[in-house]
Amino acid sequence: MHQPALYSRSNDMQRESVSRVLREWAGRLRWSREEQEAVLDVGCGPGDVTAQLLLPRLPSSVRVLVGHDVSEEMVRHAAAAHAALAPRLRFLCTDIAARDLPATPLGACAQQLQGFHKVFSFFTLNWVLDQRTALCNIFSLLRPGGEALLVVVANSPLHDAFLALQKHPRWASYTHDAISLIAPYHYSSDPINDFSAVLQEADFHIHSCRLERVSYNFPSMQEISNAAISLNPFLKRIPEELKTKFIEDSMTEIQREMSKVLSINFNETFERNNKTLSYSLISAHVEKITSS
Ligand SMILES: C[S@@+](CC[C@H](N)C(=O)[O-])C[C@H]1O[C@@H](n2cnc3c(N)ncnc32)[C@H](O)[C@@H]1O
Repeated sequence: MHQPALYSRSNDMQRESVSRVLREWAGRLRWSREEQEAVLDVGCGPGDVTAQLLLPRLPSSVRVLVGHDVSEEMVRHAAAAHAALAPRLRFLCTDIAARDLPATPLGACAQQLQGFHKVFSFFTLNWVLDQRTALCNIFSLLRPGGEALLVVVANSPLHDAFLALQKHPRWASYTHDAISLIAPYHYSSDPINDFSAVLQEADFHIHSCRLERVSYNFPSMQEISNAAISLNPFLKRIPEELKTKFIEDSMTEIQREMSKVLSINFNETFERNNKTLSYSLISAHVEKITSS
């Protein structure tokens, strides 16, 4: 995920889910009539979801929307692409699992704003191994009474495919740490229970935490390939001359895994040209309850 332009051309699948979740959930959040609120988007990527899907859903009283990402390339791209919306929309670079959050640009920004009223995060926390620190950080970034809407992939055939690449002798040395790069709930038999446990450890009050099965129909194989390349955590390690072969082998694994899910869920036969990706998504609405 270090190619912002490719990612923002290839994230229709994520955009479809974010739009649906925002339509359904944004109205459940409590917005203040008196206060000008500050909002954070954790893992904003190239900023298109932040600027085009999240910002238009926020009340006009929101004074600032901050997008942050661990990737400098993503943040640079987001800031340049959406400069016209500054200073109400701004971007900065910080790891949400940073151990010393107050010393980071995001920590400094939160301090200046006296905390965020709302935090959103879409398709990001599943890339963070240290769930506990990330969620404690989100808790500490919120003001008392602040709310968060968190959308996290529980498991996906894409992650199975990334893991399968470890078994290829040619790719094993580049993908040896796949397990630490795929979704933390991938092998969980009860992702809601596991995610809820971390939320509670971070002291959140859980209003709702649910798991849903989502299917996305890609218009073409090329679009599956683009989405998979834009999400592939190993690609930047692969030597230039091996990249084409690596992408080809990744696609074979992805198609195999996509078809497996189809045949389990819909009893369909293995279909090499299947273009439906079926994955599980956690959506959680949580609050930092004001202490009395
Ligand atoms: C799949 S993209 C999602 C981007 C955007 N939220 C969307 O819905 O299209 C995941 C983003 O999370 C970022 N990310 C991964 N680990 C992170 C971390 N520890 N802290 C902040 N951002 C992180 C990646 O750099 C990437 O831009």
